[in-house]
Amino acid sequence: MSQAHAPVLHAEVLAALEIKPQGRYVDGTYGRGGHAHSILLALGDEGRIIVMDRDPQAIADAQETMGSDRRVTIIQDDYANMRAQIAELDLLEQIDGILLDLGVSSPQLDDAARGFSFQLNGPLDMRMNPGQGESAAEWLAHADEAEIARVLWEYGEERHSRRIAKQIVERRRSGKIEGNSNRSSTCLKRYWIF
Ligand SMILES: C[S@@+](CC[C@H](N)C(=O)[O-])C[C@H]1O[C@@H](n2cnc3c(N)ncnc32)[C@H](O)[C@@H]1O
Repeated sequence: MSQAHAPVLHAEVLAALEIKPQGRYVDGTYGRGGHAHSILLALGDEGRIIVMDRDPQAIADAQETMGSDRRVTIIQDDYANMRAQIAELDLLEQIDGILLDLGVSSPQLDDAARGFSFQLNGPLDMRMNPGQGESAAEWLAHADEAEIARVLWEYGEERHSRRIAKQIVERRRSGKIEGNSNRSSTCLKRYWIF
């Protein structure tokens, strides 16, 4: 691994997967490989691990740290496409275990430029793959009030979602919404509306 990383429920995950040395496993959320590297260690010569992540930095880490191992296949994609990817490898019905460790990774939170941090100034990006789709700021520039409220309610579990959405739309009329926590601008991450 490129940096010290303590994966969550490490022992529990490995025990639940019951890794067989010749088994075939998929880690759909590689992150920085805390789990994937341990799975690889438990595999024998005939074992195989397929690692996926949407994040190009995660994929770069996987390539650097395990890319030269012939038992490893690295795929940059949404784990929602896992079945199609496994079919492509001709391994359907041959997978012994799948791991999904959902959420953001520490490196994503620690890098202000990714826009996930509550503590560091940065653009309101918030994409797992910054090369794909719209940033949060771009989405906020056109989403309607009801949609913003729904997203805050469903994904942010924010009980003031409607009030915040209304404020965002009002604020949007007088300027672009960015992610910077400079107090002169609106900061969605902390739901600051000035
Ligand atoms: C909590 S981290 C995984 C940490 C990893 N288990 C480790 O030990 O380093 C979650 C990872 O899932 C990735 N991710 C989130 N949603 C994804 C999706 N829909 N498809 C693929 N990867 C995704 C993120 O980019 C992030 O790297």
